[in-house]
Amino acid sequence: MAQRKRVFSGLQPTGNVHVGNYLGALRNWVRLQDDYDCVYCIVDLHAITVEYDPADFARERREAAKVLIACGVDPDRSLFYYQSEVPQHTELAWILGTITGMGQLGRMTQYKDKSESAGANLGLFAYPVLMAADILLYRADAVPVGDDQKQHLELTRDLAVRFNARFGDEFPVPEPIIPEHGARVMSLQNPLAKMSKSDPDEGSRILVLDPPETIKAKVKRAVTDSGKGIRHDWESKPGISNLLEMMSLFTGTPIPDLEAEHGSSGYGAFKEAVAEAVIAGLAPIRAGYAALDDASVDEVMARGAATAREMAEPYQARVRRRIGLSR
Ligand code: AMP
Ligand code: TRP
Repeated sequence: MAQRKRVFSGLQPTGNVHVGNYLGALRNWVRLQDDYDCVYCIVDLHAITVEYDPADFARERREAAKVLIACGVDPDRSLFYYQSEVPQHTELAWILGTITGMGQLGRMTQYKDKSESAGANLGLFAYPVLMAADILLYRADAVPVGDDQKQHLELTRDLAVRFNARFGDEFPVPEPIIPEHGARVMSLQNPLAKMSKSDPDEGSRILVLDPPETIKAKVKRAVTDSGKGIRHDWESKPGISNLLEMMSLFTGTPIPDLEAEHGSSGYGAFKEAVAEAVIAGLAPIRAGYAALDDASVDEVMARGAATAREMAEPYQARVRRRIGLSR
């Protein structure tokens, strides 16, 4: 049998998983399990590069693991674990750091945004190098992510090429897998900014575990555009376009069909239909989450980390040999 291609992706455990994460990345994670050898990681070491509460962190990390399993990440088919429990990630990050230019890191837009609001630290600056290490450690061929990770993926590709040129062919150059729709779900309160875990306004995002009443209230309060009519047009109707995209992704109905069906509805009626679609789409996740218990998730994650360490070590031994740290 031909060897399956490998996929790697990660999600930060701080803040709650929202429909942007789900539509932009997680749905692809789940689908890819059918055809790829998948490695999925809760990237806790990335999450501590910004302000966080250590007293809550272990719980938040487990919550993230539970939500991902509820979304369909299947630990029997995919390797699934916490990044910090596999030390080869940080070792490779250090090594890749030695071939990363300061200039390139300084141009990362996520670093510029976060360091402005949260203050800069070395971890935040080096964040994309750790991400490159996550991916290259397992020789991943492809990486399912939302649109905001494109620049980090570009750096990962550059580092793979640079390492191979300097030390010999070791890393495949990974391809991004970015969905055509859903790669950039926008904030409900400002359709010109992406939906984000760190927005202080909870009404800006729908969480995958939000109860139906909350979803209804958030969609109802969503900022729409002046004028009327339900049309997909990012230029003049970003708020409505965002809701249309979400509805299309949750129902599987193409946007033109939704426009035809709701074109002349008022905003109020349209929003009710959007809320219903989101509620129905998220219902199985809520049910799956409720069925999970903490102890068995902890066990699954410990087993995942043990397997990941075993898999990572021979790969990492090859890197050490290539760079002259062992023979
Ligand atoms: P993070 O929450 O930053 O760990 O992101 C996890 C995944 O969700 C990454 O692949 C992101 O690109 C993706 N993602 C985050 N926010 C959005 C959004 N608003 N729309 C689409 N994808 C997103
Ligand atoms: N930086 C990614 C984000 O904020 C998370 C991440 C860390 C990641 N390592 C990764 C994504 C490796 C894909 C592959 O969303």
